[in-house]
Amino acid sequence: MDHFLYKDGVLHAEDVPVADIAAAVGTPFYVYSTATLERHFNLFNDALEGLDHLVCYAMKAASNVAILKTLARLGAGMDVVSGGEYLRAKAAGVPGDKIVFSGVGKTREEMRLALEGGIRQFNVESEPEMEALSAVAEGMGLRAPITVRVNPDVDAKTHAKIATGKSENKFGIPISRAREVYALAARLPGLEVIGIDVHIGSQLTDLEPFRQAYLKVGELTGILRADGHDIRRLDLGGGLGIPYTRGNEAPPLPSQYGAMIKETLGHLGCEIEIEPGRLIAGNAGLLVSEVIYVKSGEGRDFLILDAAMNDLIRPAMYDAWHDIVPVIQPAPAAEQQPYDIVGPVCESGDTFARQRMMPALAAGDLVAFRSAGAYGAVMASEYNTRPLVPEVLVNGQDFAVIRARPTFDEILNRDIIPSWL
Ligand code: LLP
Repeated sequence: MDHFLYKDGVLHAEDVPVADIAAAVGTPFYVYSTATLERHFNLFNDALEGLDHLVCYAMKAASNVAILKTLARLGAGMDVVSGGEYLRAKAAGVPGDKIVFSGVGKTREEMRLALEGGIRQFNVESEPEMEALSAVAEGMGLRAPITVRVNPDVDAKTHAKIATGKSENKFGIPISRAREVYALAARLPGLEVIGIDVHIGSQLTDLEPFRQAYLKVGELTGILRADGHDIRRLDLGGGLGIPYTRGNEAPPLPSQYGAMIKETLGHLGCEIEIEPGRLIAGNAGLLVSEVIYVKSGEGRDFLILDAAMNDLIRPAMYDAWHDIVPVIQPAPAAEQQPYDIVGPVCESGDTFARQRMMPALAAGDLVAFRSAGAYGAVMASEYNTRPLVPEVLVNGQDFAVIRARPTFDEILNRDIIPSWL
């Protein structure tokens, strides 16, 4: 459920007509709903009630500091995967002891940054990383709290580019080698082993792969405890999917996911951490765009938008489906026709949808891409020197630009001409 509904014939973001935002900031732009972000965070938090737990928002999904602050004031922790994301969490006022550092290639500089600023734990993904972290922490007179990310070799049944829990993926250490890797961790002077981490993929629409992975983690907890490790925290990753089409898709709810966690791991007395990103931000954001031209091609009509693949890469990269809806509500009986919906970038891959049934649209009409809040703005680029689109946050009747569109001067001034030119 989200807070983007038609009211009086116009799509609203909470109580603000989307067309009013377009008039104020120009198109294209991203708009997020505070109420939806809060609702989704609370669903996870409530789902784990009764367990000692922390919901660490995976900010890679949408990392504007205003979004992070919205969640942080509800008590959210943060899952970060770079020094930059760590600094964003700090800028949002998140204390170090609520920041988890994930990622397969943390640099020594990033480790130092997090150890200096405070960190809940590092989720370590390899032996060389473990050795590097131990050395960095020891050099600072500290012991770094760690979990080891194990790769449970389960099929997440999602798009290949976002599955991470099969043995051929680059993530984690094979669960079959966990005992020796934990033994190494225990020997390293700069580390303090506190738990286990697992994350098997993103946009999972079935609980079964999670269940299989979590059962393996539960079993491993017993084995590692018997080996003498004080396993007291389980980080279960993110990955719960969202409905991208309205109506015919019903991924499991956070409450069902929480119940499954309690059932598989609740008896172990561990603190539970989860790292949802998409489910918190995905349906809390729209990308709004204007039709520049309607072009009649051979046997098909193209809607050419002012948004492009550089603004929302998911259709080009994952063949992802996003519902695209007119901002002015079509009459219930309005006839639909098929359009290829494309952007202005000079690649055929700059196609958002093929033969998509839409009511007739004309140049100047506004459309909104639904479910664009996660992995939308954060994956944008300035390809074709198209400025990054602004981000807007709505809260009830109020809205604020939370990232402005850069000017062309700002963009051009980043380039530096060497002295010989
Ligand atoms: N934790 C770790 C270690 C992760 O790698 C990820 C996502 C998450 C948590 C959050 O997963 P979520 O709850 O959002 O599914 N760009 C792709 C998705 C990439 C996901 C990468 N890792 C997309 O647009 O579908």
